[in-house]
Amino acid sequence: MSTRSFFVGGNWKMNGNKETLSGMMVELNTAELHQHTEVVCAAPSIYLDFVRSGLDPRIGVAAQNCYKVSKGAFTGEISPDMIKDCGADWVVLGHSERRHVFGESDDLIGQKVAHALESGLRVIACIGEKLEEREAGTTEEVVYAQTQVIAENVNDWGKVVLAYEPVWAIGTGQTATPEQAQEVHEKLRAWLRANASDDVADSVRIIYGGSVTAANCRELASQGDVDGFLVGGASLKPEFVDIINARA
Ligand code: 13P
Repeated sequence: MSTRSFFVGGNWKMNGNKETLSGMMVELNTAELHQHTEVVCAAPSIYLDFVRSGLDPRIGVAAQNCYKVSKGAFTGEISPDMIKDCGADWVVLGHSERRHVFGESDDLIGQKVAHALESGLRVIACIGEKLEEREAGTTEEVVYAQTQVIAENVNDWGKVVLAYEPVWAIGTGQTATPEQAQEVHEKLRAWLRANASDDVADSVRIIYGGSVTAANCRELASQGDVDGFLVGGASLKPEFVDIINARA
């Protein structure tokens, strides 16, 4: 078993309001969470302050996105400095919805990663292939290329968690099998070994996202290179606690 501590992120996406998020926070604050599992909730940016003040300090808070510079005439955007000012320490970057719904390029995601890290945020960097890419046999090529751009912009891997989220598994109920997840995670770790260092490969948490539930989390968590999860839909339900505690 690796020495990497288990990491479970809840990506609340554009869901909830003060009332429902308060309910979820009470659920998390009062739950018994495995002591060695790191938990981070990615809240809608308008609720960052609210969520940071409502969640127990043992649970981290992330923004779901940020821009690549610290301030200026960028209507509608938020900066890493603003995220930190709300007390949050993390940001999710490169999520498939940012890539494919909002058209964010690898290049832009790389610049955001660099700026977020320079600003002192920790980054959950997301990668993952689309269904047609998997069917065409290009999964490795796609995730390596995405990881490459992220890697070019990382100066301290200790501040980064890599989230493998196959696009076809997000919000579809079609989870990658434990074998499919393990296969890609193992390859990503080998890529880090070849392109960063042994230390980075051994220490970076590679987490899986895509229709993770209380029902499938334990088997996924038993895979040697699955170091945790990034959970969407189920992170707003009481079963999120079971997912946090998936690694026995
Ligand atoms: P679901 O768990 O709803 O499939 O979403 C996964 C995800 O996108 C987490 O970032």
